[in-house]
Amino acid sequence: MSTPTPLLQVEDLKKHFAVPSGPFRPRNWLRAVDGVSFDIARGETLSLVGESGCGKSTVGRTILRLLPPTSGRLTLDGQRIDTLPQSQMRLLRKRMQVVFQDPFSSLNPRMTVRGILADPMINFGLVRSRAEIDARVATLLDKVRLPADAARRYPHEFSGGQRQRISIARALAPGADLIVCDEAVSALDVSVKAQIVNLLSDLQAELGLALLFISHDLAIVEHMTHRVAVMYLGKIVEIADRRTLFSRPRHPYTRALLSAVPVPDPKAKRQRIVLTGDVPSPLNPPSGCAFHTRCPYAFDRCRVEGPALRPRASGQLAACHLDDLPPV
Ligand SMILES: Nc1ncnc2c1ncn2[C@@H]1O[C@H](COP(=O)(O)OP(=O)(O)O)[C@@H](O)[C@H]1O
Ligand SMILES: [Mg+2]
Repeated sequence: MSTPTPLLQVEDLKKHFAVPSGPFRPRNWLRAVDGVSFDIARGETLSLVGESGCGKSTVGRTILRLLPPTSGRLTLDGQRIDTLPQSQMRLLRKRMQVVFQDPFSSLNPRMTVRGILADPMINFGLVRSRAEIDARVATLLDKVRLPADAARRYPHEFSGGQRQRISIARALAPGADLIVCDEAVSALDVSVKAQIVNLLSDLQAELGLALLFISHDLAIVEHMTHRVAVMYLGKIVEIADRRTLFSRPRHPYTRALLSAVPVPDPKAKRQRIVLTGDVPSPLNPPSGCAFHTRCPYAFDRCRVEGPALRPRASGQLAACHLDDLPPV
């Protein structure tokens, strides 16, 4: 029996931005995403984590075709989407939706919630009458646990968490099977964060949605994700199922990120590993392994040779020359 085709396949995705370097000088290339590969199955959550500037949003925007990729292959349900002509982009929009960090700037302040939710339904030809719109709007509001009378109100009348519920309802409106959540809960208060994360995982279970959950904060994804991909300077350095990643990280960068995640049991406290130095510029990345300038375990080979992402005994893929990490 063959394995089912993943919903989304990303193969060796690159997105390089041309940046001017000054008069009469050739432009430089900023390698925001530099050879990223992963799959997402139907109904699966893959979290993409890493410090600010490592290329997470660029991965998301390129998958959504809000940005054209520099190279690589993107397939949705076995169909190439990186080469889709503009005329077929609509179909893609129906199947892949996005929830951004700031619902203030992404929700039209002059439209009622009903209008905001009706827009995609009308655009994609999913409704034929006002009654049908009303019925679907009511269903969506119920799904994101907002009261029915929210339909008549405007975005500014809601709190940050409620506005994010509206954004989620809008993403669900066209019946998408993949939602990219780009720092969707990052701006919210801690308790509200948890509520929205729970809502997303409930919706996922209920609707069989696939989620690409982008977050700079590893702690947020610990209780909801199926798998995690850790990015550093445009590359995935480790990818694993949640349990493996949180219990047996194999990349020193993952270990450092994890050490900052609070644990409920104080006896099980993870030793804090503080990364020294800033994230290097993707305009001029370090030689060899890009993490070597901040890695506590770096040795000569790391400065000259970039490690490949390779399978480990504990089940993940990790890009590190060390077979195992020294105990902390
Ligand atoms: N449109 C653009 N033009 C030039 N550089 C960009 C553009 N968008 C993002 N970048 C750069 O690409 C890198 C990755 O950015 P981004 O994907 O936003 O990272 P993250 O979401 O992980 O914070 C950063 O160095 C950023 O400055
Ligand atoms: Mg981002």
